[in-house]
Amino acid sequence: MAKHIGILTAGGDSPGLNAAIRGVGKAAAGRYGMQVTGFRDGFRGLVDNRTVRLDADALAGILTVGGTILGTSRDKPHRMMIGGKVQDMTDVIVENYRSNHLDALVCLGGGGTQKNALRLVEKGLNVITLPKTIDNDVAKTDTTFGFDKALGIATEAIDRLHSTAHSHHRIIVVEVMGHRAGWLALGAGIAGGADVVLIPEIPYDVDIVSEAIRRRVRSGRNFSIVAVAEGATSRSEMTAVDALVERREAATDKAEKRRAKEELKALEAQRTERTLQLAHQLEELTGLESRVTILGHLQRGGIPSAPDRLLATRLGTACADLIDQEVFGVMVAARGEYAVPVPLEEVAGHRKLIPPDHPWIASARAVGTNFGD
Ligand code: F6P
Repeated sequence: MAKHIGILTAGGDSPGLNAAIRGVGKAAAGRYGMQVTGFRDGFRGLVDNRTVRLDADALAGILTVGGTILGTSRDKPHRMMIGGKVQDMTDVIVENYRSNHLDALVCLGGGGTQKNALRLVEKGLNVITLPKTIDNDVAKTDTTFGFDKALGIATEAIDRLHSTAHSHHRIIVVEVMGHRAGWLALGAGIAGGADVVLIPEIPYDVDIVSEAIRRRVRSGRNFSIVAVAEGATSRSEMTAVDALVERREAATDKAEKRRAKEELKALEAQRTERTLQLAHQLEELTGLESRVTILGHLQRGGIPSAPDRLLATRLGTACADLIDQEVFGVMVAARGEYAVPVPLEEVAGHRKLIPPDHPWIASARAVGTNFGD
């Protein structure tokens, strides 16, 4: 009997989600005669049982559309706000999976989604995932769809900022998304020729950054572009973060653990203030006027790039093949030109950060990019 599959998109949206939905849906229906049902707004739609039939008409004309036709949310199955209270809705999800007579559930998402998907696998559901995020930080896949488009947007922004920074002899600090991993800031920094790139993986020293900018001034280049990832942290802030992490790990009672967690969260929430403060510090230390540009959600919007459409289609169609073969509990990862299933246990909770000896970092250093270290 032909299978019935469900699809949802969870976490932050990114260009290429619709291309992936289309890839899974068209291959599943066209090649294998499967019935395809979408769930709205991520795991919340699965709890509320809000469905949409993804037939040929629904899948037509969406390849180039940005965002996700299904809607998304950051809701987690085991910690969902329902009626003002955080509740574990996993059992409701299992019930709805069964009552819809699903043979498989496809979850399109980033790191958080991979963890949530694994929780459902542990409840006995046939789950298969695809890696999407503009952050490119999902483990065990070469890359994620959405990254290429965001990289293009951030690079173009740096290009534009270059000319105005040059005209006004200013420092322009441009904040790029990436709260844990710096792929976007590093990639756009290299492609756009940023003079300084600050990423979460390399804690920076503002004095080292300002000295690099002053050196440029001495050599006649009295402007600088600083590309900073949202989660970039100075060495002094890092000491505070490390102390809080240590406190959280050492906490023996729940209340103390929660307090340390909340303080950590509050520190992280100050990202934008940190970027503004950095620009202010650099102005004081170098004597150059500085300005800040925060790219924010511009990086997640718009039509997917050709490489994102290609990747999403490759992974989506491979996903349908794997469902037909009843390979579940895996993420469909990009590996060279191929799509390979990777057990979710190897993906969930393992973020792909930039290693210090990564070739992109080596190349950036070779062309004189400063990392503040
Ligand atoms: O996870 C993707 C991402 O775009 C991050 O780069 C960014 O920090 C975050 O989402 C922003 O989340 P939200 O859209 O919920 O504000």
